[in-house]
Amino acid sequence: MDGKNFWLNDLLRITIPVMKTNTSVAFFDRQFQQQVRDQDFTLNPFELVALPHLTGRVLDFGCGLGNLAIAAAQRGCSVLAMDASRSAISHLRQRALVEALPIEAVEADLRNHEIGEHFDCVISIGLLMFFDCPTASHVLSMLQAQVRPGGIAIINVLVEGTTYLDMFQPGHYCLFARDEMASRFADWDIIHSEFRDFDAPDQRIKSFVTLIARKPERQKA
Ligand SMILES: C[S@@+](CC[C@H](N)C(=O)[O-])C[C@H]1O[C@@H](n2cnc3c(N)ncnc32)[C@H](O)[C@@H]1O
Repeated sequence: MDGKNFWLNDLLRITIPVMKTNTSVAFFDRQFQQQVRDQDFTLNPFELVALPHLTGRVLDFGCGLGNLAIAAAQRGCSVLAMDASRSAISHLRQRALVEALPIEAVEADLRNHEIGEHFDCVISIGLLMFFDCPTASHVLSMLQAQVRPGGIAIINVLVEGTTYLDMFQPGHYCLFARDEMASRFADWDIIHSEFRDFDAPDQRIKSFVTLIARKPERQKA
């Protein structure tokens, strides 16, 4: 939690008036520009949990600055990394070029973006909570469908019990039910499941679930 680049810390600096005039993407875009100026590219705690599980063809959906995409590519993965932040995608493209890494970085609004490919690993860390709940649910289904049989999904979201909501615009966020990930991945092999709470201002909390699950080789009838 001490790393300057860790968005859990940075989210705490958002004020409600700022959020009324800017979207979350605009906020992150500014934050990423600052991180590039600071040369601050350390992995956050959720990315550190995810990294050892990444192999083969990887989709990082909501990649932010792409630190995990870079680390995965350095370990031999080929990565499709997507985010709506222009600064982040531009920076990631540049880094991938300089280091000659197999990363395709795509700028897109991921609320309604279909993917026409299957992956060994699909990751989405800290993204779906910025969508309204029907959209978040639909996108989660789409991500599950893009994992090849035997591949893995890594999903991290805020869950109910989160009392710090200042980073959200009303009606444009989703707190998943605490048991929702477990039920959505009921047919999968659960590799890792963890709830983590982080303190926020005024004695409020942010409560995250991180789930890593392997898709069965054959779907049950
Ligand atoms: C909390 S950050 C997480 C970034 C990265 N996965 C990480 O762990 O550091 C949330 C990311 O979601 C992206 N984002 C939010 N809404 C989005 C949208 N509608 N389409 C695409 N990206 C979006 C932001 O630009 C930001 O990079």
